[in-house]
Amino acid sequence: MAGATGVVGAHVVRLAADAGHDVAPLSRATGTDVATGAGLADALDGADAVVDVLNVSTQQTDVAQRWFRRTTEHLSAVARHLVTLSIVGIDGAASGYYAGKVAQEQALAAGPAPWTLLRATQFHEFPGQMARRLGRGPFVVVPAMRTATVAAAEVAAELVRLAEGPPQGRVPDLAGPQDAELADLVRAELAVQGKRRLVVRVPLPGTEGRRMRHGLLPGPDARRVGPTFDAWLSSR
Ligand SMILES: NC(=O)c1ccc[n+]([C@@H]2O[C@H](COP(=O)([O-])OP(=O)(O)OC[C@H]3O[C@@H](n4cnc5c(N)ncnc54)[C@H](OP(=O)(O)O)[C@@H]3O)[C@@H](O)[C@H]2O)c1
Repeated sequence: MAGATGVVGAHVVRLAADAGHDVAPLSRATGTDVATGAGLADALDGADAVVDVLNVSTQQTDVAQRWFRRTTEHLSAVARHLVTLSIVGIDGAASGYYAGKVAQEQALAAGPAPWTLLRATQFHEFPGQMARRLGRGPFVVVPAMRTATVAAAEVAAELVRLAEGPPQGRVPDLAGPQDAELADLVRAELAVQGKRRLVVRVPLPGTEGRRMRHGLLPGPDARRVGPTFDAWLSSR
């Protein structure tokens, strides 16, 4: 399990252990740096499948591309079956974080390990992360973005199922039940937290701005799973 302490990774570890699997949780905090690859072969010795939900926080194209390519190559070199999580709607992204995810998908397909690729929409946790990251005093400035957020726990459950089965290449995308505007989700998140902030929706320029406004929604073949964002918020 690469990325064991992350938002989705913690669910994968819990669900895989609940299903009776012997899980090796990898992250720098647990002593394995997948970017250097040091100790990886030993840590994954005997593993039937590796789930990759690693993440790096950057918008720099070259940093993101290098990092996702390198970590995927390191995992592919030692995995018997590599199950990787990517993001709905990233096709053709040439800059920023999403270009890194494109590089990751390419490295996965080109690598020696048999693989399965799941793309998911943004997690229900994402608006809360945006509220924290983009808050400035009484304002939260949020990029204009349509999204069909999905519970990270549902994505994790799907990753565990995929890791239990044979390599399948790319599988149908996974999305939440409703399309929404990110700014509205951030407002709902802040209301539940009892925080009074003015959420300002800002359309970003350029190709990536256009992608965020319209291009990250799932297509008709995506599998849509609940709970809705509101149900998830109130059950949290
Ligand atoms: N967030 C979303 O809305 C969303 C939606 C769809 C798909 N995804 C994809 O899902 C994946 C996981 O996202 P997330 O938000 O769950 O990530 P996250 O919370 O940022 O967690 C990242 C994990 O990677 C580990 N990690 C980072 N650098 C590492 C390194 N060099 N070696 C080993 N472990 C390392 C971190 O642990 P340490 O810091 O301890 O190393 C942590 O366990 C990403 O690939 C992302 O693109 C995310």
